[in-house]
Amino acid sequence: MEPTLSKKSLMFKKTISPVRQIMSYASPSYFKKIGLDPSSVISFSGGWVNHNAPEQLREAYLEIVQDNKLFHESGGYSPTLGMLECKEALVKYEKHIHNITKLQPTQIAIGANSTQLTYDLLKVLLDPGDKILLLDPSYCNFPSQLVSALDVEIIRFPVIDTDSWKYIAEERIALFVETIIKEKPKVILLVSPDNPTSQVLSDAFVEAALKAAKEIGGFLLIDFAYKDIVFLEELPKYYSWEPNENYLSIHSNSKWIRGLGRRLGWIEAPESVIEALESIQCSSVLCPDTLHQMALSRFIEKSIKENILKSYINEVKDKYKKAAEYTISSINKYLNLPYLIPQGGLYTCIKVGFDGAKFVEKVIEEKGVIFVPGWGFGRTMTDAIRVSYGPLVNNLNLIDEGFLRTSQVLNKKES
Ligand SMILES: Cc1ncc(COP(=O)(O)O)c(C=O)c1O
Repeated sequence: MEPTLSKKSLMFKKTISPVRQIMSYASPSYFKKIGLDPSSVISFSGGWVNHNAPEQLREAYLEIVQDNKLFHESGGYSPTLGMLECKEALVKYEKHIHNITKLQPTQIAIGANSTQLTYDLLKVLLDPGDKILLLDPSYCNFPSQLVSALDVEIIRFPVIDTDSWKYIAEERIALFVETIIKEKPKVILLVSPDNPTSQVLSDAFVEAALKAAKEIGGFLLIDFAYKDIVFLEELPKYYSWEPNENYLSIHSNSKWIRGLGRRLGWIEAPESVIEALESIQCSSVLCPDTLHQMALSRFIEKSIKENILKSYINEVKDKYKKAAEYTISSINKYLNLPYLIPQGGLYTCIKVGFDGAKFVEKVIEEKGVIFVPGWGFGRTMTDAIRVSYGPLVNNLNLIDEGFLRTSQVLNKKES
């Protein structure tokens, strides 16, 4: 008799996941299938950065690899929740860059990456049947992570006015608080700067969310994957918060230091959460990568001592700010469609006015330009697309060319 796979995995196999769809759009076999020359394709689909990692980080890896003793050490298991030297370095980074003054190494858990940590943390914070509140739109991986981690109820709170295509989180604070008090979600999960909108939530919004979380005995969890790519003159005050019993945050080295292929993530949380995470993380990854922790610790220590960390981060921000401005000016030049102005991160969202998935297919097939359809981010994005300027940060002319080609498809449709 043929054995069957689990119901959950079969269900996943049958449903299209937004993340898998994004990955498949970028695959050479897909280009081949639709008869495109891969070298002519312009992709706005990748949720990744393309600036150089700092030279001092490369040197830190070199130092470790060239030294027999250090290299041997890097081949050993790390403690389950990470090495003390790396936690201490992260405390220094948060103090130096974000003015978090009271964070303790005991409030940090290091994991393989923030995706794994989010998955494990959800298991620490939630029971089956609990509710979790996400904004709409929000990062497209969260719903599938939630469904595969546990059976919880996902509540969505819209923050885009789909008629005017305005981001309206600020105007909806009172209703957001009302929703939290009424629905009592165990976890409120926010992202700032956000994926896909690249908006930075205001202090008023986040403070109101924390106050409401305290009132109902819930957790406010912020995913800071893009924390160091913010274009505003002044960072919000909550960027400097240390964890407390209702507030915790998730961090990643993927974006700011271009560690996507050398991933490492960490959470900042009250000690009770860190302790509870230990056994879950022991089952999922056993421990994070040692080499990346050693290199990151050395880089942070050295770059703070030599006073180059802030300037590196500022250069990175400037690069993406320029790419964001370039993207907006190309959209203005070629498309008569509403968009969101990025306040950080790698993205903007364009309202195309009909099914974003159909728009995406048409533009790929006719002009070899790839966007991400909005549906995976939430209902507010059904008739919209996500545009990523991250991968094109070193090729701004391709941004212009991409929107020129897109406009040719749209103009053809109109004529
Ligand atoms: C909001 C958000 N969180 C987490 C991640 C994944 O981060 P990591 O590489 O640390 O798993 C991404 C990646 O695009 C993201 O956009």
